[in-house]
Order: sequence, then C-alpha cells, then structure tokens
Amino acid sequence: MAEAVAEGALSVQGVEAELTYYVPTETLSSYDAILVGVPTYHHDMTIDMKKLFEEAAEKNINLQGKTAAAFGSYGWSGEAPKLVLEIMKNKFAMNVAEPPLLVRYEPDQGALEKCRDLGKRVAESLIHVTQHVL
Ligand SMILES: Cc1cc2nc3c(=O)[nH]c(=O)nc-3n(C[C@H](O)[C@H](O)[C@H](O)COP(=O)(O)O)c2cc1C
Repeated sequence: MAEAVAEGALSVQGVEAELTYYVPTETLSSYDAILVGVPTYHHDMTIDMKKLFEEAAEKNINLQGKTAAAFGSYGWSGEAPKLVLEIMKNKFAMNVAEPPLLVRYEPDQGALEKCRDLGKRVAESLIHVTQHVL
C-alpha cells in the first residue's frame, strides 16, 4: 500500500517522495506532507507509531500546517489510521486529508489504485499550495 501511495505521489511533476519504515523525529519537520501507513492491532495503532508521536511531542517537533494522510490494512475494526489522523490534527495541528484510506486485509488492484490516488491527491494539493504562495 505504501509503495502505491508513493508511486501516486511521484506521478505528480515537481514532487519528491520518500518511502521509509523508520524516520528520526527531527527530520519529520523537513517534509511538506506525511502520509502514514499503519495496520490495526488490538484496536490500536502499532507501538512504533505511538513511540514516534510520543517522541515528537516530547521534543516539540513543529508540524503545524503540514499536510497529513493515513492509510492501513485492517481485519474488522480498523481504528489505527483514524487514530493517527486524530493525533496529527489535534496534537500536531496538521492539515489532515480525511477520511483515512482503509483496506481490508490484503489490497487488491482496486485498493492499490485508491492508494495511488491518495498519494497523487496529496501531492497535487502541495503543488497548488506552492503555486498559491508564489
Ligand atoms: C494479534 C492481532 C490483532 C489484531 N487486531 C485487530 C483489531 O483490533 N482490529 C482490526 O481491524 N484488525 C485487527 N487485526 C487484523 C490486522 O489488522 C490485519 O491482519 C491487517 O491486514 C494486518 O496488516 P499487516 O499485515 O500490514 O500488519 C489483528 C491481527 C492480529 C494478528
């Protein structure tokens, strides 16, 4: 799913996208948009993701006004991407793209297309913001 999201973002001219499983909190503020992929386990996001947010909050990492999106595979309840967006919106004052993209278990071609579309839409919104500022 993350690969498809990145592919969608990269299809927009002038946008660079980095796909990573780990990101040091200090570098978060160097991105214009952060798109989080997270599966739901025990009605929650994964521990690594929680730790990232905890650490970013502790270090007062400023993400205000940056674009955020979330997506993830789930089995039956799928809370994680929604929780992630809530934190990005309420704690970090990010500009969130709602609703999150949820895919039940393994993504099929249709779901991967939705992932590409999410990446593309977010990337296009960044281009529009830049053009507006210029
Ligand atoms: C131990 C365990 C707990 C899970 N808890 C939930 C849950 O609370 N809600 C849900 O929607 N899916 C739950 N799932 C299903 C996973 O979200 C689903 O298998 C998802 O596709 C996992 O994505 P991943 O393979 O990218 O880790 C759980 C799966 C496991 C193995």
